[in-house]
Amino acid sequence: MSINEHVTEGCDQYAVFGNPIQHSKSPFIHTYFAKVTQQSMSYGLEEPEVDSFEEAASAFFANESVKGANVTLPFKRDAFEFADRLTERAQLANAVNTLIKQPNGEILGDTTDGKGLVYDLTLQFGDLSGQSLLLIGAGGAARGVIEPLFSAGISRIHVTNRTIEKANFLVEQFSQFGELSASALDHLPNQGFDIVVNSTSSSMTKELPAITETIFDNASIAYDMFYSNEITTFNEWAKNRNSSIKTSDGLGMLVGQALESFRLWRGVTPTESEVLALINELKAQLSN
Ligand code: ATR
Repeated sequence: MSINEHVTEGCDQYAVFGNPIQHSKSPFIHTYFAKVTQQSMSYGLEEPEVDSFEEAASAFFANESVKGANVTLPFKRDAFEFADRLTERAQLANAVNTLIKQPNGEILGDTTDGKGLVYDLTLQFGDLSGQSLLLIGAGGAARGVIEPLFSAGISRIHVTNRTIEKANFLVEQFSQFGELSASALDHLPNQGFDIVVNSTSSSMTKELPAITETIFDNASIAYDMFYSNEITTFNEWAKNRNSSIKTSDGLGMLVGQALESFRLWRGVTPTESEVLALINELKAQLSN
């Protein structure tokens, strides 16, 4: 699948903004979505200097054929500031990963990361209703997923973080959406959890959060939001402790957030089997 196969002159244009961005999978993912849903659009890469997002995004959106963009690190807060209007979920997440040009020219900011996680968890493991969830980490990644998880039927979330103040802050902000509690990594409640999600950046450096491995004993799913070409440090740790636990990395979440952006822009989505085929293709690319 060549990523430029679908590019047509004069068609609607999109891009992902980030720095660095050269290794982003987003052009490949969106070009695949466009192809299977027969949308005439192109999707490129934009890599502004870290302090030049506003200038670069203004120039990009000034082009009539530009209809939207994705935004990744380090620009999710800049995109939040740049948007003319924000969805409620973007306001809650305090970050924007999707910009949508409205018919009147206004730029709407939204975030689709939480939907992406829920999409992937549901696709792989089925209905989330009534399940309890331990969320490790309280940074930007955690912030974006709490409300979508409650909306998907998760019954109880406990947030645990190295810096307890950040976990407590999330409880203050998100308790209105469901049963939410917080503690430091070494002060977990006694009850177990069905799903354990690692939202920390620890797997990037092959580290583990300083938390007891008993968290995996009664859990059926361990999910690491990070992904790589081999099993992540966190998921390997989970499997070693509990061989019957199902594990997943965040590759499907990446595809899920892209799917939700695509739906917002184009009003259509690929079928589940087309999405699964894409995830398999991305896995194959990663292992090569
Ligand atoms: P972002 O907002 O981009 O997600 P962040 O705010 O730096 O990034 O959050 C990263 C998360 O990973 C935080 O929860 C961080 O814990 P602290 O809030 O205590 O810094 C967590 N994190 C990163 N490395 C970690 C490690 N080795 N062990 C435990 N937690 C870690």
